Amino acid sequence: MRDDYKKITGRLYGVGIGPGDPKLLTLKAKDALEKADIIFAPKGTDEGISVARRIIEQVIEGKKTYSELTFPMTKDKAVLKKYWKKAGRRIAGELKKGKEAAFVTLGDPFIYSTYIYLLKILKQDFPNIDVETIPGISAFNAAASRAGFSLLEGKEKMAVLPVSETLEGIEEALKDFDTVVLMKVGTKLQKVIHLLKQKGLAQNAVLVSRAGHPNEKIIRNIASIKDKELGYLSVILVKSPRLQTRGVSPQGG
Ligand SMILES: C[S@@+](CC[C@H](N)C(=O)[O-])C[C@H]1O[C@@H](n2cnc3c(N)ncnc32)[C@H](O)[C@@H]1O
Repeated sequence: MRDDYKKITGRLYGVGIGPGDPKLLTLKAKDALEKADIIFAPKGTDEGISVARRIIEQVIEGKKTYSELTFPMTKDKAVLKKYWKKAGRRIAGELKKGKEAAFVTLGDPFIYSTYIYLLKILKQDFPNIDVETIPGISAFNAAASRAGFSLLEGKEKMAVLPVSETLEGIEEALKDFDTVVLMKVGTKLQKVIHLLKQKGLAQNAVLVSRAGHPNEKIIRNIASIKDKELGYLSVILVKSPRLQTRGVSPQGG
């Protein structure tokens, strides 16, 4: 760490902004964003303007300075690390000037978020950094509310999994948990539908695409899905067979 970075006096807010409906920002998140001198918003290489920035611009009052940080859509940790480090230096540069900065993240900052990696690197490279993380409503909470899908009752257990190409862990989760939440569905949508059909669980699942966005879609009959694009920004909520045996309808029935 360079000597001048030992005197970082600013503060970073890691702000969860919820899944897309600007009204789902918490008061604390809104406060931190309105206070911040600069708001860092992540975006993918193919995104024109950051999705997170578009959401907060609808509710944050006053003129703000935004800085969009690009992160490539790759799983190559070495490549990503370079981008996280670069972003970390950019943020630390502002904090060093005594500024308050915010880094926004969709949903909750500590659920499958770039913020987690960025924070680790920031703490490693600038150990005296002052950070406050502000929780957000995760996509799966919003999806459950929109679909009227009860996530957990009584002694039920829930698993949250990212969908991988090999669908690793999903079958086991369906056996061991009452509710299974599948995130990062993306291009693996048809594979997931195939598996759920095979297990006789397609009727017990609901897909919520772009929860809280203007083009939100809620699909209960997931076996009928043909549109490949629906996997993008989607979660699938599934109730396991254990519930079926109790004769309870998971979808608000
Ligand atoms: C990188 S993870 C970020 C999760 C986020 N931190 C959260 O707490 O919701 C991205 C995944 O979150 C889910 N997601 C994010 N926003 C969503 C939305 N508005 N509707 C449905 N799923 C969403 C999708 O599964 C997507 O692939």
